[in-house]
Amino acid sequence: MRPKIVVTQPIPGDAVARLRQIGDVTYRTTDGPLPAAELSQLLAPADAVLCLLTDRIDEVLLATTPRLKIVANMAAGYNNIDVAAASARKIAVTNTPGVLSESTADLTFALILGVMRRISESEAFLRSGQWAYWSATLLLGSEVHSRTLGIVGMGRIGTAVARRARAFNMRVVYTARSVHADAESLGAERVDLDTLLAQSDIVSLHVPYNAATHHLINAQRLAQMQPSAFLINTARGSVVDEAALAEALHRGIIAGAGIDVFEAEPTIHPQLLSAPNTLLLPHIGSATLQTRSAMARMAADNIVAFFAGNRPPQLVNPEYLA
Ligand code: DGY
Repeated sequence: MRPKIVVTQPIPGDAVARLRQIGDVTYRTTDGPLPAAELSQLLAPADAVLCLLTDRIDEVLLATTPRLKIVANMAAGYNNIDVAAASARKIAVTNTPGVLSESTADLTFALILGVMRRISESEAFLRSGQWAYWSATLLLGSEVHSRTLGIVGMGRIGTAVARRARAFNMRVVYTARSVHADAESLGAERVDLDTLLAQSDIVSLHVPYNAATHHLINAQRLAQMQPSAFLINTARGSVVDEAALAEALHRGIIAGAGIDVFEAEPTIHPQLLSAPNTLLLPHIGSATLQTRSAMARMAADNIVAFFAGNRPPQLVNPEYLA
C-alpha cells in the first residue's frame, strides 16, 4: 500500500515530485498555516506529513491523526512539534539541519552590517529625496571589522558565522556546552555567558529554542551588554524577552539590534517596531531558492527513507521506537 503523504504548504524544488514516486500526495498549494481544526482534518488520513515551522503539531492534533507515522519538519528548529507526544505515539520526527547553515550565517552578517552601518535607514533617506550633499557627519555607523563577536551557541550555524567573522578580522568568543574544535581552530575562544555579554561588541544568538533557552536574553542579560553593543537574533524569537529588548533599545541600554525571528511572529512587539537602531526582517534566515529547495528535499528524503524501512537520516527522536 502506498503511504498517504500530506504536504501542508507550498515548498520549492523537487521534493513533492520525489514524494509522488513513493506515495499518494496531498499537496496544499495555499501559503500560510491552517487553523488547528483544519490542519487536523487535512492530516486525519495521513501516514506522513511534510510540514513547516508554522504548523503546530501538538498533543491535541496528534490525538486526531491515528495513522500518522512520521512528521518531517522542513526546518532545523522543531519547537513547533511536541516531540515527546509524538514519541509516545511512536511517531518519528525529523528536521533539516546543516543545509541551511551557510545561508543563515550569510543573513546573520547581513543583519550585523545592515544595522551597524545603518543600511535601511540610509536607503530610506536617499529614496525620500533628503540627500542634499555629502556630509562628514551623515549617517555615521559603527565599525564591524576588528570588533569582538560573541556567538551564543556554537553549532553548525554558529561555526559558519565564526568562519565569516575571521574574514572581518574579528575576535570571536563563544558559549557552548563543551570546547568546540572547529571553532577553536578558527581562533574562537570559549567563555561563559557573562563574559561574552560583557566583552562583545556584537552578540549573535545561535541556540535552539527549548525550556532552557526561553528568554535566555532578558533584561538582566541585556544590561550586562555594553551600551555600544548590538544584539543579533536569527535563532528563535523566544530566546529573547522581546519586551525587555524593546525597552533596552528605547532606553539606550544597548546600541541596536538586528532581528529575524520574533516571539509571536508574524506579530511584532509594537515597542520593537518603534525602537531606534533596529533592523527587523520577516524570518528569512534560510530564504534562498537553493537552501529552501535543499531543505524541502531533505524533509522529503526523510519520509522516503522511513517508508523504505530505513532510519530517517535526520531523526530527532530515536526514542520513538522504544
Ligand atoms: C529553521 O530551519 O529552523 C529556520 O528558522 C528556518 O529556516
